[in-house]
Amino acid sequence: MTPARIPMRDLKREYNSIRSAIDDAIERVVERGWFILGEEVKRFEVEWAAYCGVSHAVGVGNGTDAIQLALRAAGIGPGDQVIVPALTSAFTALAVSMAGATPVFVDVDAERGTLDPEAFEAAIGPQTAAVVPVHLYGCPADMAAILKVARQHSLLVLEDAAQAHGARYQGKRVGGLGDAAAFSFYPSKNLGAFGDAGAVVTRDPALAQKVRLLRHGGQRQSGYHELLGTNSRLDEIQAAILRVKLAHLDRWNEQRRSLAARYRAGLGGCDGLVLPATPEGVEPVYYVYTIRTALRDGLRDYLAGTGVSTGIHYPLGVHRQEAYSHLGYEAGACPNAEKAASTTLSLAVFPQLSFGEIDHVVRLVRIFFAVR
Ligand SMILES: Cc1ncc(COP(=O)(O)O)c(C=O)c1O
Repeated sequence: MTPARIPMRDLKREYNSIRSAIDDAIERVVERGWFILGEEVKRFEVEWAAYCGVSHAVGVGNGTDAIQLALRAAGIGPGDQVIVPALTSAFTALAVSMAGATPVFVDVDAERGTLDPEAFEAAIGPQTAAVVPVHLYGCPADMAAILKVARQHSLLVLEDAAQAHGARYQGKRVGGLGDAAAFSFYPSKNLGAFGDAGAVVTRDPALAQKVRLLRHGGQRQSGYHELLGTNSRLDEIQAAILRVKLAHLDRWNEQRRSLAARYRAGLGGCDGLVLPATPEGVEPVYYVYTIRTALRDGLRDYLAGTGVSTGIHYPLGVHRQEAYSHLGYEAGACPNAEKAASTTLSLAVFPQLSFGEIDHVVRLVRIFFAVR
């Protein structure tokens, strides 16, 4: 049977698969009548830290704040430069700007799409204070090379793990690879809330404590504000939902990997199409299944016409965004990121998709290339 329509995401399918547990969790919070910084957040923080293999997790309002607050907690701000890959969600860089620091955009590796360690090293200057490698599309960045350079220059390494919950690098889960990591639990992420949510994880107790203060107005004791903090708290309902979903995360990631393998088997050898790289020592979690083709726009239109939704991650390198025009990056400054921006197309890969649906997309992509 041919599926009528294939969405990029279908969070209703996910909800239906765990409906009663989610409903019970929400009811538990509502019955308790305690909605901000309570039992659920506390427990989720312990569970999420353990999952990531670190000692501390601090729940915050969203992934952007997780990056911003981790940088601020590490003392990074005005006058500092923070190295960011040019191919990522612009929110990675916006968080750096929100902390008062200046993002320095660096090109990505042509195949992997993550921060190029050599370009990173070349961009380090006297004001560089930190680097934010992004585990793009669920594939961990080349952390061994990045950490080596960062350690030589005493830079803070803050992983942006917003797209890579549960991914492994040389056997270790992302989140525990650098000095700290930021997660987003935006609804469509591998682990997603029913609204905005995020977390900072770290092994550093002082950094965790500082994020804890900053997220809650800088208060250690209610009514006494030690720091110029903000309001960015993970709320109880979201934490309760995340606790339910966490129990399914490994199974869902496994499902994403088998759907990705199905795409690979079906699309392999298709002329004009580049499939996602699978670097050695990496266990990716396929937040999206991102292919590359010079015929990207035509393929996207063709698929849309047949009821198959796709995404573009991302249509513009962050260094070329209007919001960063004041930094003066010219076209060609980050060629791999720019090429990716005009050739990448993300296909649906959420865990509740069936092999039949993947096969349908594969058939259509093959038809598109066969008639060219
Ligand atoms: C790589 C990356 N970094 C940061 C963010 C920002 O997360 P949030 O939307 O939760 O603020 C996102 C998600 O949009 C992301 O994909």
